Amino acid sequence: MKTYKIEAVLHIHEMADLSEDDRELVEAAKRATNNSYAPYSKFRVGAAARLANGAIVIGANQENAAFPSGLCAERTALFAASAQHPDQPVVALAIAARKGTRFLEKPITPCGGCRQVISGVEDRHGVPVRIMLYGTEGIYVSEGISPLLPLRFVGEDM
Ligand code: THU
Repeated sequence: MKTYKIEAVLHIHEMADLSEDDRELVEAAKRATNNSYAPYSKFRVGAAARLANGAIVIGANQENAAFPSGLCAERTALFAASAQHPDQPVVALAIAARKGTRFLEKPITPCGGCRQVISGVEDRHGVPVRIMLYGTEGIYVSEGISPLLPLRFVGEDM
């Protein structure tokens, strides 16, 4: 038997350690939680994508009475970015979530569907997406989707 060992490395930063651009992106994700429509879960998630040209596109989770018809904040942001700026790679994505007015201490990490979409965005442009997960205790930073989605399925596999 052979063993395939997978190691995932994320770095945990304080806000003060981040670059000005990254801090701005995290603040945009936090503000984006105000645009969440979450009457069912009451869990407000915001995301902010930084494009290669410097533009920021935000997203927030949007829920529906028919639950599967809603969409996560990450995909809302990434699909909006792609629809508005199809030629621009996404270089970074920040995510923040709160219950009521309190941001989570430990950040949430993107759901499996969003991880696959982030993977697709990387593949489309050939550029890794720096992922920053905001928690009041620290910001988890993943350099690209690989640590969050090992052995991922890519278009080349078909
Ligand atoms: N949600 C996100 O927007 N992003 C995540 O990474 C996890 C979950 C949303 C979907 C739903 O509106 C609510 O949070 C509860 O699952």
